[in-house]
Amino acid sequence: MELNKAIKLRRSVRHYNKKFLNKNTIKKIISSGLLAPSAKNREPWSFIVIKNKDLKEKISNLLNEKTDNDTNITCNVIKECQALILVYGNIENNFDTLSIGACIENMLLTARDLNVASLWIGYILKIEKELSEMFKCDKCLISAVALGYTDKFPRQRPRKTLNECTIWY
Ligand SMILES: Cc1cc2nc3c(=O)[nH]c(=O)nc-3n(C[C@H](O)[C@H](O)[C@H](O)COP(=O)(O)O)c2cc1C
Repeated sequence: MELNKAIKLRRSVRHYNKKFLNKNTIKKIISSGLLAPSAKNREPWSFIVIKNKDLKEKISNLLNEKTDNDTNITCNVIKECQALILVYGNIENNFDTLSIGACIENMLLTARDLNVASLWIGYILKIEKELSEMFKCDKCLISAVALGYTDKFPRQRPRKTLNECTIWY
């Protein structure tokens, strides 16, 4: 798929089917994240990939305990998806967080290119402490990415126009 097409067709997907997502595909997606630019080329990212069904369910339930109406759907995504990737950072400054954003976007676009559905999950931060204990990780949790297959990519969500967000001089 052309880059432009992947950018246009990428969606946040909140319903996944049961089709198996193989490890090689996940590796390709993470590898594309590794190619992202990072401040001072610090490559501040690291990943924990959770494919295990019971673990995903445990994490979903943990998040559910802290839930409000907003996070309900996200809890369900964590259960339904084929892989949940926790994205950790060695964060020294804001640039490191920005770098990880670029890394995650690369991953989402590559996922779309491979016809894999994805969701960027910020709500995962609600259970940062619990996850750090579970995985004995002392880095900073930045976000999670859910991956899997879907029967239908949703329609594009509304976007501001170029004119609304741009000033020219
Ligand atoms: C930093 C960040 C955190 C997000 N966290 C969540 C989340 O926890 N749960 C969720 O359902 N969507 C989450 N999203 C997805 C956004 O809701 C979504 O990108 C937005 O509504 C636009 O839809 P689109 O991605 O389909 O274009 C997050 C997106 C970003 C960039």
